[in-house]
Amino acid sequence: LILTQDELKKIAAYKAVESVQSGMVLGLGTGSTAKHAVDRIAELLHQGKLKNIIGIPTSKKTHQQAVSLGIPLSDLDSYPVVDLAIDGADEVDSNLNLVKGRGGSLLREKMIESACKKFIVIVDESKLVAHVGASGAMPVEVVPFCWKFTQNRLQSLFDYAGCVAKLRSNNGTEDGEIFVTDNGNYIVDLFFKKDVGDLKTASDAILRLAGVVEHGMFLDMATTVIVAGELGITIKNK
Ligand code: A5P
Repeated sequence: LILTQDELKKIAAYKAVESVQSGMVLGLGTGSTAKHAVDRIAELLHQGKLKNIIGIPTSKKTHQQAVSLGIPLSDLDSYPVVDLAIDGADEVDSNLNLVKGRGGSLLREKMIESACKKFIVIVDESKLVAHVGASGAMPVEVVPFCWKFTQNRLQSLFDYAGCVAKLRSNNGTEDGEIFVTDNGNYIVDLFFKKDVGDLKTASDAILRLAGVVEHGMFLDMATTVIVAGELGITIKNK
């Protein structure tokens, strides 16, 4: 039996939705894995198995999906405490630290997932890594104003790790149209050739730069990670 990556994502998502109870305020994640969780929540609502759910979407895209499925929605202004958020991730390490934002939704995700009592991350096994940030883009959301200046400062900050900082475009090429986030900002993707060292130190250094809005390292936030693999589901708790 060989499952596709999308089937694995769906298995992890459905497992996470088993933790949803009627009356909850729910953070609705973004991406191809979280999409399955939102579909499943809507299905249970329509079957009457869940009642009085309020969804807080982490992106415009998820907002649209939830509206089309008839999930009642609100926001953090009205519900500053979220009971549970379910979302995917790009990388997960053994301490449950994450890289998120390769889909571009990191700011709203981080705002909502920082405000929740429980945060379940759903991934297929391809997302597991030994060290976050070692194998792909570490996204940083920056204001458009003088983005080259901010990009250069980000790159110099991690000179010791052989960092290359690239502005994200819609088609992935350097002269492509600039990718714009839901918040009207840009994304600078950081690529490291060597170990970036202590993650909390790296995180603080990025956030201290004026011009940076937020980054995609989600440290010490996930309370549970559900991993779906060929051999079944693994659940890791903080
Ligand atoms: C969105 O910006 C990201 O943080 C997503 O949560 C992440 O990219 C995971 O997406 P997939 O489930 O599509 O891999």
